[in-house]
Amino acid sequence: MKESFYPKRRPAEMRGARFMAAMLLLLTSLCAVANGFPFRTPLDLDVTPRVTVLSSGLKGCRRFESSAVNYSTMLLEADSERLYVGARGAVFALNASDISASSALSIEWEASTEQKLQCVLKGKDNKTECFNHIRLLQRFNSTHLYMCGTHAYMPLCAYIDEKKFVMSSQPEEGKDKCPYGPMTGYTALILDQQIYTASRYDFWSFPDIRRNAPSPALKTENAPTRWLNEADFVGSALVRESLDSSNGDDDKIYFFFTEKSHEQSTTYSHSRVARVARICKGDRGGHLTLQKRWTSFLKTRLTCSLPEYDFHFNMLRSIFVMHGLTPQDTLFYGIFGLEWKNVKASAVCRFSLSEVQEAFRGPYMESQDSGSAWKEYVGKIPEPRPGTCITGKLRAKGMNVSTSLPDEVLDFVRRHPLMSHQVQPADRRPLLFRRTTDYTHMAATVVQGVDEQMYHVLYMGTDEGWLHKAVAIKGQLHIIEELQLFEEPEPVTNVLLSTERTSVYVSSPSGVVQLPLSNCERYTSCYDCIFSRDPHCAWSGAECVDVMTQSKRSSLIQDIQHGRTGCENTGYGMQKSYLMLILKS
Ligand SMILES: *[C@@H]1O[C@H](CO)[C@@H](O)[C@H](O)[C@H]1NC(C)=O
Ligand SMILES: *[C@@H]1O[C@H](CO)[C@@H](O)[C@H](O)[C@H]1NC(C)=O
Ligand SMILES: *[C@@H]1O[C@H](CO)[C@@H](O)[C@H](O)[C@H]1NC(C)=O
Ligand SMILES: *[C@@H]1O[C@H](CO)[C@@H](O)[C@H](O)[C@H]1NC(C)=O
Ligand SMILES: *[C@@H]1O[C@H](CO)[C@@H](O)[C@H](O)[C@H]1NC(C)=O
Repeated sequence: MKESFYPKRRPAEMRGARFMAAMLLLLTSLCAVANGFPFRTPLDLDVTPRVTVLSSGLKGCRRFESSAVNYSTMLLEADSERLYVGARGAVFALNASDISASSALSIEWEASTEQKLQCVLKGKDNKTECFNHIRLLQRFNSTHLYMCGTHAYMPLCAYIDEKKFVMSSQPEEGKDKCPYGPMTGYTALILDQQIYTASRYDFWSFPDIRRNAPSPALKTENAPTRWLNEADFVGSALVRESLDSSNGDDDKIYFFFTEKSHEQSTTYSHSRVARVARICKGDRGGHLTLQKRWTSFLKTRLTCSLPEYDFHFNMLRSIFVMHGLTPQDTLFYGIFGLEWKNVKASAVCRFSLSEVQEAFRGPYMESQDSGSAWKEYVGKIPEPRPGTCITGKLRAKGMNVSTSLPDEVLDFVRRHPLMSHQVQPADRRPLLFRRTTDYTHMAATVVQGVDEQMYHVLYMGTDEGWLHKAVAIKGQLHIIEELQLFEEPEPVTNVLLSTERTSVYVSSPSGVVQLPLSNCERYTSCYDCIFSRDPHCAWSGAECVDVMTQSKRSSLIQDIQHGRTGCENTGYGMQKSYLMLILKS
């Protein structure tokens, strides 16, 4: 137990407040065991990485650093040669095959001295807030990118001519699309040249989900029911539900955030809860009711907890959307934390699109007036069902756009933004629970094992500059390795994967790191190779190889499910591997 509890190489973690917090959690779990919980304890889930690699031992690692700091936004398209990176006061176009190559292009874009002075006069921090932090960097059309920066507390946006990599026009007003500060929760998507953003833009304003075009621009509603309650946004995604729809359904945009809860639960009450909200892409707002407001906004709660220990991971820190073979197979991977701020702990839960959709088809919540508690609405629900998209059936009835929806329906939407059913994780519990680690961002990919099964492989960045590579096996995560990316602890601000480039890109305040998706040569014996349970790696008979590079898979040895068998007849490598197993598990 000791082994899985204390990080082996970071004695600093055992000091002070963190140590106390860890002890407290340990005591909690011991008490729980003593109280006789017979099933899987959180300690089973609290996985230790099998291998630890310090930054000095990283192989194939490439770095990009410059005079700029606070790298956070990254853009890499499937067939693109370039990785675009936004930092503080600059945007870079890096060679995606090798980000350390000297061919990097840049656009310097810092706020003027005058603007910075204005920012300081507003009482903002001259060390963090009074700079131009690039918060949005995405494709606009086939020739241009679009970016927004906080611009010393006066956001601006600009187009980038991709080929020349220069700003193609004077920056334009960004207040309605970009937050004012570098740390404010924010998410943005550009779809068909329309910009969808969600944030608490200005310090004084309410959080809002907006679309700037086509006219009319749409927003969320604040009265009589406030649709968003101090929401802190972490992500958004388009799901093309029109593609495999039999009833002419619309595409949807999902938004992920943590907000102040308004519902009272019978068993416990929490001040904040994790949410998913969605809107229909074709929404045009209402005619009289909900004019210039979404007519399709619905939200519900995402739960990620270990109820038997009363651990409720209510803070959604990051989301990764895993697109499946069809839109219906979409999975949402979330990194969650506890509300208790001074305790380090993370949980990973995944949710299936179909269960999210199910919640949106279920009962609504209602509050009689702003002061009273929310409870499930049991009255009559008007037709067509409030909050649904315009479908073939509605078009046949002459309702071909949201402005033709009846007032009665829109009035219901206005007062019932919250669904009653919460969404449980697809696995009914976290895939992973870890004390002493705060994950900040993640990305995932699917790798086919030698056994022909499809495995989800996750790359999770920590607040101290480490990257954990893990594989989901039967509803649990096995951490294959932990890699120290930065010598000085600093938070990972973004993680991006490219299977084409077989690379994972990780950004932080000081720079960007590019690593190969796997490093199978690290394992020098057959046992070492299969104990790793890395779907990328298999024993060829002579060495541990990357399965992607092998045309003939049938002779490869791999045991992702158990990390145990296959090497019996290979005749060597036993000693060293058993030693490894004892040390690490
Ligand atoms: C920006 O980077 C500096 C130094 O690397 C760090 O101290 C600061 O917290 C970062 N600010 C933000 C907003 O990330
Ligand atoms: C990017 O780097 C790769 C590998 O170093 C190199 O072959 C390629 O020519 C570079 N591309 C550009 C556009 O510089
Ligand atoms: C910020 O302001 C402080 C005090 O006003 C000053 O000493 C410091 O040099 C300023 N820092 C920057 C980065 O401008
Ligand atoms: C893309 O958008 C930019 C900025 O609005 C515009 O100047 C450019 O002509 C557009 N490109 C195409 C191919 O439409
Ligand atoms: C909706 O239907 C009306 C009348 O049938 C038509 O005039 C209008 O162009 C249609 N609007 C859309 C967005 O399809």
